[in-house]
Amino acid sequence: MRGKKRPQKRKNKRAETGNKTVSSIVKQGDWIILYHSDKHRYVVKVEEGKMFHTTYGSINLSSLIGLKYGDEVETNVGEKLTISRANFVDRLETIHKHTQVIYPKDAAYILIATGIGPGSRVVEAGTGTGYMTAILAWYVKPSGRVYTYEIRKDFYEKALKNLENLGVLQHVEAKNKDIRNGIDEEEVDAVILDMPDPWTVTEHAKNALTHGGTIAVFIPTMPQLEKTVVSLRKTGFKQIEPTEIQLRKYKPIPEELRPETLGVVHTGYVVLARKL
Ligand SMILES: C[S@@+](CC[C@H](N)C(=O)[O-])C[C@H]1O[C@@H](n2cnc3c(N)ncnc32)[C@H](O)[C@@H]1O
Repeated sequence: MRGKKRPQKRKNKRAETGNKTVSSIVKQGDWIILYHSDKHRYVVKVEEGKMFHTTYGSINLSSLIGLKYGDEVETNVGEKLTISRANFVDRLETIHKHTQVIYPKDAAYILIATGIGPGSRVVEAGTGTGYMTAILAWYVKPSGRVYTYEIRKDFYEKALKNLENLGVLQHVEAKNKDIRNGIDEEEVDAVILDMPDPWTVTEHAKNALTHGGTIAVFIPTMPQLEKTVVSLRKTGFKQIEPTEIQLRKYKPIPEELRPETLGVVHTGYVVLARKL
């Protein structure tokens, strides 16, 4: 065999991520980012035959299929956009919001503080846009479940569509019900409330929770905060923790490194309590 060239192995164009193999080639149905600049990026699902319009011109999405992640594409007016993979949080940006939603800073705190993870069973109200529902579903999958209650039929139907588009509907049981009439589930790990009068549900929440389970209430105003704390105490919840999560963004310019002049100053309060 000396002197003979070994047949070269084909270059592996696929990368291993956990037990999944992810293609480096853009395929039909992939969620991608089209990046122009830090201020302008677009998240879109690659669908054959569809045109996508940006401030920098349009792109025929069919023309992206078969290109590599990291490649540049040109719009019809010659502007360059780089193709990258979109993650779940990028995809959340694309849903139509018909209600106020729980901000990522508050959602992240609720997730960690309640100990929600794969396999958790979580009750939530109201569903609203389904933004928090989708985050919960993403973290409890594959074996966990989110039971979400929404009083308004139109919001319930729109949220179902959002959850389907995000690919998490199979981990959710959505109900067009008033949660004040009771919670059907038992022995759940957490109850998350984002509704105007959460103090009307604390008794139901306590009955539905497993021992050691956590309730997390998101409310935007001080009077609501006070009523919630009073009601949690009365219901017998322990370790009641009213909190406010503050997030301050900074200018990413080395010679001007300082907080941004404008930003979101207030979202709401998060009250945690345990059934112990
Ligand atoms: C601020 S939105 C929730 C947004 C949601 N957390 C999200 O991130 O998309 C409040 C929702 O609670 C619903 N709601 C109000 N009272 C309710 C009740 N008693 N039972 C179920 N849903 C209720 C409203 O219709 C509304 O859709």
